[in-house]
Amino acid sequence: MGRRHQNLAVSPVHPSLVPQHATGPAPVLAATASPTCTNRRNGPAEWTGGPPVVPALLKPCRSTVVTESEVARILSGVPAMPPTRKIGKMSSMTEHRSSASTPRRRPRQRRGARVVAVQGSRGGAGATCITLGLAEAAARQGFRVCGLDLDPRAALTTALVDTVDGPTLKDVIRLDEHAVPLNDTTVESSWPGVWASPAERTLQNRERDLGTVHARTRFRQRVEQARPDWDLILMDIPSGLSNLALAGIVAADALVIASTATPWALAGINEIVYTLERLEKTHPQAATLSGIAVTLYDDSAQAKRTLTEIREAFGHLVWSPPVPRYAAVQLAAEVHRMPLDTYAEAAPLRAREARTVANIHAEFVSCLLPVT
Ligand SMILES: Nc1ncnc2c1ncn2[C@@H]1O[C@H](COP(=O)(O)OP(=O)(O)OP(=O)(O)O)[C@@H](O)[C@H]1O
Ligand SMILES: [Mg+2]
Repeated sequence: MGRRHQNLAVSPVHPSLVPQHATGPAPVLAATASPTCTNRRNGPAEWTGGPPVVPALLKPCRSTVVTESEVARILSGVPAMPPTRKIGKMSSMTEHRSSASTPRRRPRQRRGARVVAVQGSRGGAGATCITLGLAEAAARQGFRVCGLDLDPRAALTTALVDTVDGPTLKDVIRLDEHAVPLNDTTVESSWPGVWASPAERTLQNRERDLGTVHARTRFRQRVEQARPDWDLILMDIPSGLSNLALAGIVAADALVIASTATPWALAGINEIVYTLERLEKTHPQAATLSGIAVTLYDDSAQAKRTLTEIREAFGHLVWSPPVPRYAAVQLAAEVHRMPLDTYAEAAPLRAREARTVANIHAEFVSCLLPVT
């Protein structure tokens, strides 16, 4: 097992998250190694801090090479998982797109949403597709779902919204008095039951504005104000340690990590875990780790080995099963920009793939929201 950890490098942590005197114990992610556990049986899981899972992988601000023997030593001492915290059709592709040509503003209602941020363990790890899949599945189960696109590359927006002509998330993050309430940016998407607060390229200009604790707290407050209108607010946040990503984590209750089962994935996950630990010092209400969705999974020996390693390190926080690497996922999201269920009906040759993945997403939703 240690062989597979060789040369795992941990990237430097964002300077604003590094305490002046980082001497205390590293964060904790206690886990039980139970590859057989299922999501539903274990219920929603949360990472709430504590002693470290893989302390050597969580060291701050230095590029670290973890040796084979060290990883073996660390993994052999993984403590038990802490108590979990309970949480609060269209016939053709053409018809599907045309049904959403005119976005409408969503009527206001009262109830509180769970706010979930989704981040990739590294770029291209499948975070946006997991966000879309969770949105589709939750909406199909009757939840009122809003997708927030916190990534200036706007992949979520591209999949969900035909045209962006009103205020967007960048107007919510404004520093001045012209800031817009989040729910004034939401539009009905072309996906049944899913609404979206879109992104545009210029969201990148807000990166610097979100560099302070105060600014991130204010963004959290704006998301907070939108809660009553939804059951689930899903944020697609960029991978890495940008201020936009940190603001998303601060504004969320729960963080879901989308990860490939590739050798560098564990380092990426640990970097995020370390970020959560640092953020908790300045933002005690920031998201806790709620799940790891392994995706783009093929049945190669390497993928199986890495999945085993991720499960050994993070126990039942790793959602089952992994999402397979199926062309249907990419075709539905990127090419046809439609939910997997709709795509399954429109493309019979890919229907089995699409339905398989849609069912996995539905299983994941049961880890985030009460089963209806
Ligand atoms: N299960 C899957 N099977 C096949 N292709 C997939 C799957 N999940 C995602 N993809 C494809 O992999 C690529 C990366 O996925 P995605 O954009 O969701 O990742 P990301 O983490 O959001 O990337 P970024 O860092 O650019 O935001 C996309 O082309 C997407 O269509
Ligand atoms: Mg993305």
